[in-house]
Amino acid sequence: MAFQAERGIICAVSVVVAAAWVGLAPTALVGSTQPIRARHAMVVSQDDLASRVGDQVLRDGGNAVDAAVATAFALAVTYPTAGNIGGGGFLVYRPAAGDPVAYDFRETAPAGASPTMFMRGREYDARVHHNSHLAVGVPGTVAGLHLAWTEHGSLPWQRLVEPAETLARSGFVVRDPLARSLAAVLPRMQDYPASVAQFSKNGQPYQVGDTFRQPDLALTLSRIRLDGPAGFYEGQTADRIAAEMAANGGIMTHADLAAYRALRRTPMTGTYRGYDIISMPPISSGGVAVIEMLNVLEGYDLGASGSGSAATTHLIIEAMRRAYADRAKSLGDPDFNARMPVAQLISKDYAAELRATINLDRASVSSPDSFSWPAEGDETTHVAVVDGARNAVSLTYTLEQGYGSKITVPGAGFLLNNEMGDFNPVPGLTTRSGRIGTDPNLAEPGKRMLSSMTPTIVSRDGRLVMVTGSPGGRTIINTVLMTILNVIDFGMNVQEAVDAPRLHHQWLPDETRYERWGLSPDTLALLAQRGHRMVEIGVQGAVSAIVYNAEEDVLEAAEDRRRTSAAVGF
Ligand code: GLY
Repeated sequence: MAFQAERGIICAVSVVVAAAWVGLAPTALVGSTQPIRARHAMVVSQDDLASRVGDQVLRDGGNAVDAAVATAFALAVTYPTAGNIGGGGFLVYRPAAGDPVAYDFRETAPAGASPTMFMRGREYDARVHHNSHLAVGVPGTVAGLHLAWTEHGSLPWQRLVEPAETLARSGFVVRDPLARSLAAVLPRMQDYPASVAQFSKNGQPYQVGDTFRQPDLALTLSRIRLDGPAGFYEGQTADRIAAEMAANGGIMTHADLAAYRALRRTPMTGTYRGYDIISMPPISSGGVAVIEMLNVLEGYDLGASGSGSAATTHLIIEAMRRAYADRAKSLGDPDFNARMPVAQLISKDYAAELRATINLDRASVSSPDSFSWPAEGDETTHVAVVDGARNAVSLTYTLEQGYGSKITVPGAGFLLNNEMGDFNPVPGLTTRSGRIGTDPNLAEPGKRMLSSMTPTIVSRDGRLVMVTGSPGGRTIINTVLMTILNVIDFGMNVQEAVDAPRLHHQWLPDETRYERWGLSPDTLALLAQRGHRMVEIGVQGAVSAIVYNAEEDVLEAAEDRRRTSAAVGF
């Protein structure tokens, strides 16, 4: 039985890969609720070329960290909307034996940053905040991947960077999603000639079937392959970044690049119905918020009230509302906010206090004189890897918005992030219409901006259960929450858990966004009776997830068909 299932699913993976090579959308799996199974090891990312790079690393004897590093470098070539070397992110690693560890390679504010840097005179300037050279944080990806590899990798560094370099130099065939994505972003790159040159054919969009070569990026990757982080933060690459900044009103300097350090952090941990939750600590808000919500929900029998019911949906929304309010009030860079109440926010006692404020029949009201939010991009990407020893990596990284700042470093072939947009825009100013000015997340020299990225690993009794994470800006935390609930409370397999409709409430605006077709009319009516404002949206997130089926000693992965996704294993 197990053998048949495994064979069937492996065939399905081949169909996806074959379809992808001839430029077809991977529609072959639509409708399958069965996970993709692999006995030995598995990589899930949002691009099949990148997943296959990771898979080959695992086949060559690399471990989960090796495969995650190689996949991340490959995504910087094949999935340029979010894969990157000019951005930053987080990696949570749970070895099969020993303590889990988290790597923080979030971008930092340059030394010239200040809380008022996004204002022009007395006015906030959204363009400066999100679409300018001032929106670029000091990139962390290369330092972070290198630190994780230094501490846990097993194959040579060169072996892990080389596939990305080859993909950039030799090129790869453009398929439909990339062609559409590049065509859509091209008009927004017109201010940056190096970006137009990099991502189009002399100003014309790439077509399906074209070969996409990135020779400048290949040269940058060769410097990183040969010199490690020095190939990025020093020498020619740093010279080119600093020159681009100096010529265009940016503030990032050689000194900022040389000073960048990836950080090893203790993961944020909690428990939920006997499972251990291992996630990202601040500067991500993700681990704190997901654990806070799980603690609140642990007090209710969600399995009995059922997936998708009005009663369950009401409770999930109320947990989300409270966690996002706490996120806004309290969280920022821990190195600049010594008194953040993290221990309180993730405590079971606090969850009980919050539960006492939840009326089972009535929606709470998010106070409008409290907090609101800066815009946050949803073009991040997640990589999940489990190797043969059952070491697991959960890695989320980003350029912030799709293609980041849209600024390609001339002669270096990679995009810079616009992550400074994740800092609060204006000190002290908080409005109904979307500004938040609370202190913990104001820009300061060397500070990291608050993130929602939530790379998470679940275990039980010392054994791996699940690796999960998603893009989606502020919705990431709720997407990860719901994937965990779907597996633990509702008994879904990982594909069902990823397919299931998602919700998002973020305290303000006081509304719940739900995926189209996600809730039935009678459920919506019951929620409206309780006072919830429900807003239909398209899709939310793009989970990369792997569940370890210990009974059969098999890995089960999900592809999220909301966007591109590729699970590859053996
Ligand atoms: N820029 C998206 C995030 O860090 O959450």
